[in-house]
Amino acid sequence: LSLGVMASGKGSNFIAVADAIAQGKLNAKIQVVIYNKPQAKVKEKAAEFGIPTVFCNHRDYATREEFDQVLVETLKAHQVDWVIMAGWMRVVTPVLINAFPDHIINIHPSLLPSFKGINGVESALNAGVKIAGCTVHLVRPEVDSGPILIQAAVPVLEGDTPETLHQRIQPQEHHILPIAIALAAQRS
Ligand code: GRF
Repeated sequence: LSLGVMASGKGSNFIAVADAIAQGKLNAKIQVVIYNKPQAKVKEKAAEFGIPTVFCNHRDYATREEFDQVLVETLKAHQVDWVIMAGWMRVVTPVLINAFPDHIINIHPSLLPSFKGINGVESALNAGVKIAGCTVHLVRPEVDSGPILIQAAVPVLEGDTPETLHQRIQPQEHHILPIAIALAAQRS
């Protein structure tokens, strides 16, 4: 599998995928890591794995579509077949989605279809659920929708804050994301 990772943050999910590949658990290669925030830690992490990085700044483009077109060109230029949104904090448009139909994978820190959107962990906590978790799914035009590939459940504990709950969810994300990539490839 020829992967392109898009990430906005610290990149722990990128590392989970890169580690799974290095350990022979996932037969894939990460061709490029695209990041959209200059300070994103994922940049250095990718460099440690010897993977090329490309900075695409959404602020340079007037519309989401124009930005996504640049992402498509960058991904295609790196021969990417599967796009992994590993903490990509931007809404993507059909420009990207239609360029890789059912070949874009997103990880979200809630048990979808509950708690879509940017504050999934906090919303779950505010709703008072006792079981939280994470979901990996194929990306379709509606945000945080699309066929679910895999989920993991995490207990909510007394006194949890969004931060402590998110910290408990993340190891589960790291566990299921590489599995989900293999599952998606099997389905296609
Ligand atoms: C993850 O919790 C993911 O579910 C969400 O953004 C976070 C990214 O974390 N979409 P990291 O940058 O991979 O550590």
